[in-house]
Amino acid sequence: MTDSERQQHAHLDGLAQAYAEVLAAHDIDGVLLYSGRPAGHFGDDQHASFAAYGHFVHWTGQAQLAHSWLLVRPGEPPTLTLHAPADFWHLPARLPEEPWIERFRVEARESTEPPVLPSGRFAVLGDVTDDMARALVAEANPPGLLAALDELRVRKSDYEVSCLREANHRAMAGHRAAREAFEHGGAELDIQLAYLSGARQRESELPYPNIVGLNAHGGVLHYQHYDKAPPTARRSLLLDGGRRYRGYCADITRTWAGGDADPEFAPLIEGATALQRRLIAALAPGVDYVALHRRMHEGLAALLVEQQLVTASPEAVLASGLTRAFCPHGLGHLLGVQVHDVAGRVNAAGHPLPPPAEHPALRLTRELEAGMVVTMEPGFYFIPMLLEAHRHRPEVNWGRVERLADHGGIRIEDNVLVTADGPVNLTPQEP
Ligand code: GLY
Ligand code: MN
Ligand code: MN
Repeated sequence: MTDSERQQHAHLDGLAQAYAEVLAAHDIDGVLLYSGRPAGHFGDDQHASFAAYGHFVHWTGQAQLAHSWLLVRPGEPPTLTLHAPADFWHLPARLPEEPWIERFRVEARESTEPPVLPSGRFAVLGDVTDDMARALVAEANPPGLLAALDELRVRKSDYEVSCLREANHRAMAGHRAAREAFEHGGAELDIQLAYLSGARQRESELPYPNIVGLNAHGGVLHYQHYDKAPPTARRSLLLDGGRRYRGYCADITRTWAGGDADPEFAPLIEGATALQRRLIAALAPGVDYVALHRRMHEGLAALLVEQQLVTASPEAVLASGLTRAFCPHGLGHLLGVQVHDVAGRVNAAGHPLPPPAEHPALRLTRELEAGMVVTMEPGFYFIPMLLEAHRHRPEVNWGRVERLADHGGIRIEDNVLVTADGPVNLTPQEP
């Protein structure tokens, strides 16, 4: 058995033990996890791309298995009901031939209906229809149980950390290829295709649609298109590209200045990168992530002053709310089998921890613990609709802002493991 296989066995042992404790605490005999089904296009026989439910992936690592079910009962091997109809239109779903499969009871079948449950008290979790829940005689998605199982995904096992690290390595191969395509004058579509080729993953399997923004498109936070023609000037590329490995997600962003960039742009990238490194160095168990997010805004205020975008003290810039116009998103989020992993806004007991009113987009509001994997993604953008509200401020160097606006924005995003011995950056650092 390889080290990775041994780690996976330990991961499954830990999961079985933790599920047994949670189910006992909720007086439930077992839980049925539904992988889900792809959404169909109305009036058509085609479907949207698909990602299986996180709790199903937590056990199986299989993010593409639709219409499948996993029954977890303490003291029994988990039973995987695999939807694998005999079909000459498609290749039936197949599981990898790997040692972890031996720990599961696998039942392949034609039907997409839920399996028949043994007698007892069961819960079913996932995107089940009312008909499914009724047929199962099981409670669908009970909030208390759901919160307790979400909590099991917050601290990663060694196996999960290895998968997240490998996802990062493979995503970085995509970033490398994408950067080369950018340097060769490629259009957004060329850069995306180079990324997919470098990362060796098809688009529908990515954890999220890659964001490939040239020039001003880098300032659209979730820019969703891939222009087919290259722009006439190559000022910047913001590439937020992910990759899955055995179900686990990488979420990496890099920003590059192009040959036509204003000379004031590269120092901004350097400033944002230095800020990100300082914030990563502060990651430790017991640190409040909201405080770290506020520290990002202090750093952005200092950067605005240092780069002469604003003539005021950093304290005054912070108080004016300008940094929130330049960066309206959060410092980062939990990462795992979902890119925005669960339980970022509750404490360990499941009580809500809403984000501060002035930072509504912050997805992680809890105290950091060893074993968490978080993204660290300070950003800095020229977003006309947000800057407009500050147009009256004479302290802003609007001439400089206008010169840089066509560069869109900057985000530098790495994936970092929190440990008691210091942060471990899972993202390869390349020049
Ligand atoms: N790629 C989405 C995000 O960074 O949160
Ligand atoms: Mn990202
Ligand atoms: Mn992210």
